[in-house]
Amino acid sequence: MTEDIASALVTCGYLSLGFVVLVTLFLMIRWSNRGMAAGRSPVSGSYLSIEKLVSMIDGSNGRACMRILHENRRLFETSPGSTGNHQNWHGGYVDHVTDGMNVAVALYATLSSKRPLPFTLSDALLVFYLHDIEKPWRYAFGSDGQLRHRDGFKTKEDAHDFRAAKLKEYGIRLSTEQQNGLRYVEGELDDYSGRRRVMGPLAAFCHLCDVTGARIWFDRPTIEGDPWVGATRRRTI
Ligand SMILES: [Fe+2]
Repeated sequence: MTEDIASALVTCGYLSLGFVVLVTLFLMIRWSNRGMAAGRSPVSGSYLSIEKLVSMIDGSNGRACMRILHENRRLFETSPGSTGNHQNWHGGYVDHVTDGMNVAVALYATLSSKRPLPFTLSDALLVFYLHDIEKPWRYAFGSDGQLRHRDGFKTKEDAHDFRAAKLKEYGIRLSTEQQNGLRYVEGELDDYSGRRRVMGPLAAFCHLCDVTGARIWFDRPTIEGDPWVGATRRRTI
């Protein structure tokens, strides 16, 4: 009789433990889905690879962005991020894009925990991924080893036109807000007006990410020992 009671208690204990584990798993999955639906990062704080970041861009535009990455990997991993001011090493282009997209994930989580943002994380990742897309085709190393701009890339409009053509080539279609984001990611510049806001919220957010990568963390990620867990330079070629 006593053994029966002891056996029943053990069985009850196992069932209770199983129930608690199932409820915990259910709550964790629900929390994770809620976070993703709200545009928050599915991971907490670790540095994401360019492939992972691009996979977080929604729909056909996301698939097109992944195709751009795969078809131009060598170019992206050898081009510099700028002629001199930030990530100006071989492969700095993909490092600048990856770093800025990671900043976007972190910043989006922080800001949207305070107030809702009028765009999704996917919007921000799409615009940031494309914001410098002309650069790998724009820069060339001269015989003296110095970087120069190729012919056809003299003005901001030249760069804008190239970006538009590249988007068309890959079938990327942008909403009005995303187009505004791409046009004003570097600021309002000559279009500034005291009477109306030219730069939209999405453009302003991507501008923050760009300035962070280009003027605060201009020499990041480091080759090794970067304090941001998982951050490293990309170049594999
Ligand atoms: Fe940039």
